[in-house]
Formats: sequence, structure tokens, C-alpha cells
Amino acid sequence: MATILTKTLFSIFLILTPTFSITTDGIFSDQFAATKSKSHKHKMTHLHFYFHDIVSGKKPTAIRIAGPKNAFGTTVMTDDPLTEGLEPSSKVVGRAQGIYALASQHDYGLLMLMNFSFVEGRFNGSALSILGRNRVLDPVREMPVIGGSRIFRFVRGYALARTITYNQKTGDAVVEYNVFVMHP
Ligand SMILES: *[C@@H]1O[C@H](CO)[C@@H](O)[C@H](O)[C@H]1NC(C)=O
Ligand SMILES: *[C@@H]1O[C@H](CO)[C@@H](O)[C@H](O)[C@H]1NC(C)=O
Repeated sequence: MATILTKTLFSIFLILTPTFSITTDGIFSDQFAATKSKSHKHKMTHLHFYFHDIVSGKKPTAIRIAGPKNAFGTTVMTDDPLTEGLEPSSKVVGRAQGIYALASQHDYGLLMLMNFSFVEGRFNGSALSILGRNRVLDPVREMPVIGGSRIFRFVRGYALARTITYNQKTGDAVVEYNVFVMHP
């Protein structure tokens, strides 16, 4: 089974790998005719939840671990609850365990490096890996989902984040997430 899977994946990889030639004419991008592989049965899953980033109070879920405060280089470690509803008391469906860091010198652009691990229903024990830029002042930010575990093995997709509340005094924020993933 594992060998068949490996072989299939390997051949998909071969089909999808274009041959590159080195050019000097400065072409930034190129397109290839798509080659259809036989195994095109993917499920699409949509997840919706709220991310609570609590930096204040006695029990913060996000703490600064390196860099200056609120400037280029600020690095924060999170174990933020992901809830079904907007209220912090609403049912916890997962946790966002990872790091975000202020990676831009020109705007409020964070680098997000997160494991969203879920604890609810059929996704209990499964996780998604998010890696991407999060320009927090934009109304909606898109970040790639670059992989996952258990139910989400071989996953790919994207996450859309939208800030619902941001407390300027405390720095606490609630962010709505809509995540779309394709998986076998
Ligand atoms: C994310 O967390 C889950 C559950 O805690 C774990 O099984 C998985 O290996 C983690 N994934 C990554 C990429 O760290
Ligand atoms: C999720 O899985 C853990 C470990 O298997 C289990 O203890 C827990 O009760 C499960 N939670 C739900 C909501 O099914």
C-alpha cells in the first residue's frame, strides 16, 4: 500500500515537474499546459472558527519571546484557543500553537508559522500547518495551508483571516478564520 502510494505520488511529481532552462531575458513567470493525473478525487473541506489572541492579563495565550516590543523583529509564541463561536467562552475546537513575528519594516506584516490542531468531532487529533504573511491591518488576509496531519495528510489550501475585534489598550484580538482545504 505504502509503496503504491509512494509510486503514485512520485509519478504525479514527475508529471508536474516542468523542465527548466536558464534564461537571461528576465522573464518572471511562465505557464505550462496542465497534465491531468488519474487520481483526481479530492475532498474540499471548509472550516470556520475564531482565533483568540490574548496578550494581556494573568493568563495570556500569546507571549513575546524575542525581539523589541511592537517593532520589526517582535516574535510571539502562541497557544491560542480556536472556538466555534465569537465568544471566548464558546466551545474550543482547537488550538493555534506556533509563532508569529513582525517581519516587515514597512507595514504591520506578520510572518505566521502555526500548527492549528483540532480537538473536535472528526477532526479531533488532526492538524493543519499554516505558513504565510499576515498584514494585520488589511480587512482580509490570505495565508497558505501548506500541509497537515491525520485526516489532513497531503492537504493543501488557504486560510482567510478577518479581525473581528482588536482592543487597542490590551492588544487582545479575535480573528475569524475561514479555511478551505483539499485532501484525499
Ligand atoms: C501539529 O499538531 C498535531 C497535534 O497536536 C501533531 O500531531 C502534528 O504532528 C503537528 N504537526 C506539525 C507539522 O507540527
Ligand atoms: C479527542 O481525542 C482525545 C484523545 O483521543 C480524547 O481524549 C477526547 O475525548 C476527544 N475529544 C472529543 C471532543 O471527541
